[in-house]
Amino acid sequence: MGFSKRIDTAISRAIRSGQAAPSPGKLASALHYTVNPGGARIRPTILMSVAAACGDDQPKLADAAAAALELIHCASLVHDDLPCFDDAETRRGKPSVHRAFGEPLAVLTGDSLIIMAFEVLARVAQIDPVRASQLMLVLANRTGMPNGICAGQGWESEQTVDLSAYHRAKTGALFIAATQMGAIAAGQDPDQWEELGARIGEAFQVADDLRDALYDEEALGKPVGQDDLHGRPNAVTELGVDGAIQRMRDILSGAISSIPKCPGEAMLAQMVTAQAEVLTPIKWRAQKTAVPGE
Ligand code: IPE
Ligand code: IPE
Ligand code: MG
Ligand code: MG
Repeated sequence: MGFSKRIDTAISRAIRSGQAAPSPGKLASALHYTVNPGGARIRPTILMSVAAACGDDQPKLADAAAAALELIHCASLVHDDLPCFDDAETRRGKPSVHRAFGEPLAVLTGDSLIIMAFEVLARVAQIDPVRASQLMLVLANRTGMPNGICAGQGWESEQTVDLSAYHRAKTGALFIAATQMGAIAAGQDPDQWEELGARIGEAFQVADDLRDALYDEEALGKPVGQDDLHGRPNAVTELGVDGAIQRMRDILSGAISSIPKCPGEAMLAQMVTAQAEVLTPIKWRAQKTAVPGE
């Protein structure tokens, strides 16, 4: 089974278990609505690629880790779109969860998905308790305070922002979780995988700044021009479009050189190169092949 099928199957299984009777119907529907259709699923794809590069000797752990990571990401988007954060009306080309279901259910959807992520990992603990507890620790660390996406969102309420800490926590954290959890699922030491995740996360942030500045809402499926609107620092304002694209490419070539020695090193380098192409705005790509969703 390919990565995307494995990821979708593991996520669907988790959502179904959260919808079991006697669940309240609207919240059960909101769980499904939030993860389907998915976005690019870039974080679990990176996780699976690292696990595969390290031998993927316990695929059930990799599947659970990938689902848990994507559930946290989806939860963070539901909360991020709420009126008290970015007040976004659309996400992935359809009404955001609070627009479709109302604010109380959107808060509960995010909460339920966060809890579900850890439940998914707890359920595979009997396969390998040590790896499962390491997976939970990394995911908790990159979700909460002081290093996770909660910290990242928290920076937006400060008068003075430490820009690199803000980006590292808001965006980088789940990419570090992706590479480290892929390594853990396959029984490898997560420490040496932090740099690759951090670099991909940094490149992704620049790509997101480019998309926010260059695309329209229809192409992106979510509000654009948000960085300008909220006066947030942005790589495009700082470096211009060409400068930002160059910066993203430089970071990704650094990412390739940081791949630890492992059996699938060459495959991982190819994966990062492919991601670089996907992250590059279409007009600037070497091959102008359309990417699904654009
Ligand atoms: C959006 O992430 C949130 C950011 C961290 C910028 P993605 O662009 O990965 O969102 P989906 O999952 O593909 O919709
Ligand atoms: C969302 O960040 C990332 C989270 C940690 C939730 P943004 O607010 O910058 O991303 P979009 O534009 O809504 O996807
Ligand atoms: Mg936000
Ligand atoms: Mg937002």
